[in-house]
Amino acid sequence: MSEPIDPEAFRDFEYAGWQRFARGYHDNFAKLTTQVIGPLLDAVNVDEGVRVLDVATGAGYAAAAAAERRAAVIGVDFSEVQVAMAREQYPKIAFREGDAEALPFDDESFDVVTINFGMLHFPQPERAVAEANRVLRAGGRIGFTVWAMPAHAKGLDIVLRAIEEHGDPNVPLPPGPPFFRFSDSDECRRVLTEGGFEQPEFTQVAQIWRFPSPHEFFKAFHEGTPRTGALLRAQHPEVLETIRMAIVEAASAYETKGVIEIPMPAVLASAIKP
Ligand SMILES: C[S@@+](CC[C@H](N)C(=O)[O-])C[C@H]1O[C@@H](n2cnc3c(N)ncnc32)[C@H](O)[C@@H]1O
Repeated sequence: MSEPIDPEAFRDFEYAGWQRFARGYHDNFAKLTTQVIGPLLDAVNVDEGVRVLDVATGAGYAAAAAAERRAAVIGVDFSEVQVAMAREQYPKIAFREGDAEALPFDDESFDVVTINFGMLHFPQPERAVAEANRVLRAGGRIGFTVWAMPAHAKGLDIVLRAIEEHGDPNVPLPPGPPFFRFSDSDECRRVLTEGGFEQPEFTQVAQIWRFPSPHEFFKAFHEGTPRTGALLRAQHPEVLETIRMAIVEAASAYETKGVIEIPMPAVLASAIKP
């Protein structure tokens, strides 16, 4: 049985993490999470004049890609640090602070809602889906991405396996929703249809994470994520060093011509509001 989730505690944990690790995420994960943005925008038909809300926008990458397609886009994120970075990077795009589970927008005011790697960070993702549904017009589309299962997303497999084998996977962190919940198409379909959407579609999109060395790969998780990183940071220093060595060794197996290339595919889900 999984532990009961205290949504407030998990939200506070995520919020504090993003406030602190936004820069590390930007430096390490953005080169990965931006790879799926083209297919995400294609899946929900983002084009000139389409009103797009990019939820959990982070430093605004998907919003910027939508703006390049001449869409009318707004990005929203609950982290002031992320929103400040988004505004700094893309001063011509509108960004707002706000919670995915209580969006600060009117009903039926968008044609498209995108959520790139946000769903697995929300305490109550059904609420985020309901909110997306509320702000979309009839016929509007939602599109979101999450990591594929660790069997495919090898970077997550390496890190979670190292923690499981050498560390304590049960360090006291606020329990959150299962990390790979939306990697499962049946669960995506259930949540999207119960959230008022129809015609759900899923696809897996290849992404490759490149690093100059396996040490950088470890650093990406250690200094760039609130949730998986917290599992690492909460380990005893000696245990963490053993985990670090295991991660470095496993990541080294992915070296090709002096570059570490780790498969990290995304699952892309989309659906339509009737
Ligand atoms: C993994 S990052 C994804 C950022 C960006 N979409 C990208 O593709 O790189 C997750 C983002 O979700 C934001 N976030 C997490 N929980 C949120 C919530 N409840 N409401 C709004 N934003 C949230 C974080 O601040 C962070 O910017």
